[in-house]
Amino acid sequence: QTVVRRITCVGAGYVGGPTCAMIAYKSPQITVTVVDMNKERIDAWNSDSLPIFEPGLEDVVMKCRGTNLFFSTDVPEAIRSADLIFISVNTPTKMYGKGAGMAPDLKYVESVARSIAEHAQGPKIVVEKSTVPVKAAESILSILEDAQRRSNNNLTFQVLSNPEFLAEGTAMRDLASPDRVLIGGEDSEEGQRAVAALVNVYASWVPRDRILTTKTWSSELSKLVANAFLAQRISSINSVSAICEATGADVREVAKAVGCDERIGSNFLNASVGFGGSCFQKDVLSLVYLCESLHLDKVADYWNGVITINNWQRRRFADAIVSELFNTVAGKKIAIFGFAFKKSTGDTRESSAIHVSKHLMEEEARLAVYDPAVTEKQMRQELVMETSEKSVNKLVTVFSDPYEAAKDAHAIVILTEWEEFKTYDYARMYNAMSHPAAFFDGRLLFKRKDIEAIGFHFFGIGSAPSHLSEVGYIL
Ligand code: NAI
Repeated sequence: QTVVRRITCVGAGYVGGPTCAMIAYKSPQITVTVVDMNKERIDAWNSDSLPIFEPGLEDVVMKCRGTNLFFSTDVPEAIRSADLIFISVNTPTKMYGKGAGMAPDLKYVESVARSIAEHAQGPKIVVEKSTVPVKAAESILSILEDAQRRSNNNLTFQVLSNPEFLAEGTAMRDLASPDRVLIGGEDSEEGQRAVAALVNVYASWVPRDRILTTKTWSSELSKLVANAFLAQRISSINSVSAICEATGADVREVAKAVGCDERIGSNFLNASVGFGGSCFQKDVLSLVYLCESLHLDKVADYWNGVITINNWQRRRFADAIVSELFNTVAGKKIAIFGFAFKKSTGDTRESSAIHVSKHLMEEEARLAVYDPAVTEKQMRQELVMETSEKSVNKLVTVFSDPYEAAKDAHAIVILTEWEEFKTYDYARMYNAMSHPAAFFDGRLLFKRKDIEAIGFHFFGIGSAPSHLSEVGYIL
């Protein structure tokens, strides 16, 4: 039986950091080293101010750091000393060449495989934790086996797939008590020995019946499919939100009624301004690309619909803002509440706020942005990438006080579901705004009647304006 005593994780990001912190916390007998080529990020992991905001993370890191949890930039040494190496680097959508805009870019994964091939000695279990397309493990193995053939220091490799299912914002809870851990490996004796070694790592705290072992390919595909199903539920309810707005039905009531059916379930049925985050869009596109490569065009079209609806929902919401503000927002101050892609995280990758802001900036609105967890630098970087430095300098101001952001604004636009947004004194904000003042709820945080009672003109995703709800929709 192979016993894992030293784990190295390459990639100290949203997945590598929290996952390894949890392994170190739950398994004091294992030494865990997280390495990254980004020195600034590693320095932050070694400081009092961690590079990512995740509830409960700091506590766990502080308990283990310096004891059995280490952060370093010395990738070669960490590879040499490990029994098991997680590859947890980014796999963003490729922006060049074949598959641009669809396929995941595997250059970071490959470069880690090459580093392992170069620096490894003795037997190593290499684990794909990054989300990758089906058969990526084969490519990694080819690179490693080439090194094995050329080496004379009894190098052996097993490649496993162990995708991560944590959700940002609840990562520590998800890691401590996962719905399942998925481990894919080869059917051979060596393959199954490697699978058993990784099963034992998780079995320190995860009940054995929640650790699923499969073929490598099933494991790789399951991660893409899980994210596609989650994204599909959001696009499904968002498509229904448009029907509600046009008919006088209320999407919250519909979601509740539909979700009560045990076969459907009530999770992930919140209509919104669209999903964001670094994974859903990229992984659905990766699945679509895979289907296209396999000439399964109908399947590709089916999943591509999830992305089409998401982009349309963002655009629809931005268009509604412009149209409710008398078809012109040029020069108008608009308060944007929330820039993170969801609550309880400072992550802004692919946030719907970026896209709605971009649409409003194209209409020359002046944006006053507030988010409790996102830095000004990060907001500016995201918006500069989507628009231009010139228009960001001209049109965007970042505030650290929501009341200041709302002052003199023509509208408040809710783009992230932060709990604190529910606690503000909106009557006070209303009094300090330009009138008529509008309120756009892109996250279903508020009840129409409460906001209208203050005096705002209200637009909420998935509920019709008052005149429609009162008279109903006549076909
Ligand atoms: P991230 O971008 O936060 O972190 C990746 C890190 O890898 C970066 O710090 C980068 O500097 C480092 N890196 C890249 N190439 C390297 C190399 N050759 N040597 C050393 N370091 C290198 O990415 P994140 O969010 O942690 O995602 C990692 C993977 O996990 C992706 O494939 C993603 O799809 C997947 N995933 C992400 C989830 C999330 O919620 N963020 C959830 C589940 C899976």
